[in-house]
Amino acid sequence: MSPPEPAPPEPPPWERRRQAAQAALDAARDGRARNRLGQFATPPALARALVRLGLHTLSPTAPIRFLDPSIGTGALYSALLSEEGERPIEDAAGVELDPLAFEHARALWADTPLRLIPGDFTALTPADAATLVVANPPYVRHHHIPPADKARLKERLLTQTGTERSGLSGLYVDLLLLSLGWMAPGGVGVWLIPSELLDVGYAAAARRVLLERVTLIRVHRMDPNAPQFGDALVSSAVLVFEMRPPPVDHHVTFTFGDLEHPTQTRLVPIAALRAAPRWRRELTASPAQEGTPLGELFTIRRGVATGRQQAVCAS
Ligand SMILES: C[S@@+](CC[C@H](N)C(=O)[O-])C[C@H]1O[C@@H](n2cnc3c(N)ncnc32)[C@H](O)[C@@H]1O
Repeated sequence: MSPPEPAPPEPPPWERRRQAAQAALDAARDGRARNRLGQFATPPALARALVRLGLHTLSPTAPIRFLDPSIGTGALYSALLSEEGERPIEDAAGVELDPLAFEHARALWADTPLRLIPGDFTALTPADAATLVVANPPYVRHHHIPPADKARLKERLLTQTGTERSGLSGLYVDLLLLSLGWMAPGGVGVWLIPSELLDVGYAAAARRVLLERVTLIRVHRMDPNAPQFGDALVSSAVLVFEMRPPPVDHHVTFTFGDLEHPTQTRLVPIAALRAAPRWRRELTASPAQEGTPLGELFTIRRGVATGRQQAVCAS
């Protein structure tokens, strides 16, 4: 029999207050309203893992200028306060559309330097040079986006990112692409997104941007048998990227399973990804065709899957 799991550590006081506010916010909204706003908070342990990934990927000499484009009650900001260690936070900002969630966040973080911006992130003019964007964007399906908003988003994506928006696109793609305009060169993005971004036709333009405008470091697919959001019924993936063009011979690390202890790891050349209409199969494709599983080359020590290729230890 395996020994019992150690109890998770007590959350810090600010996180306990946030969890209470989150429970109040969730209780005030029925399932339909939460779907329309894409309101599913990041579970605390996952929030901390996402922030750790971002901090490990960000250059140790870079200042922390944090941005959450859809902050809710601030699960990811709370995680940043827990994980920053000795590194000072030079700036932190969060945008929130829902007035009720915004009010909760304002009350929670009033005594901290967090700048809260009310409104629709997709309607704002980029105003920051963030070095660390950590996001769990709203999973709003296209049929919940009114036609007038789709037209506005189409225009905005074309002018700001040069990409053609599909009418079938979920709102999270818009937030992801528009956030690039808020990032400093060398900044790091960590995005928890529906794993369908890896495959669906409507996200093809986003996948191209991820291969051309940024250096995509890691694509992690969460084990769909352990869904993160219970009632949200969506399988999730995590993207980690740096805001700089990729080197010609760049390889993306694809992982599967637990974010910090993946059960599968594979390096895939971006040339192969550019040619691939879908990415999900990159983890299951034959190694001879599509890169080589690290485990075939090295003995991988688990527990150091930070998202930086340099930090994958082999012996
Ligand atoms: C998936 S939740 C994540 C909240 C928080 N970042 C977290 O990790 O728990 C998405 C949040 O985005 C907000 N939201 C929805 N549409 C938005 C938009 N267009 N601009 C900014 N925030 C938005 C929702 O109200 C919700 O609080």
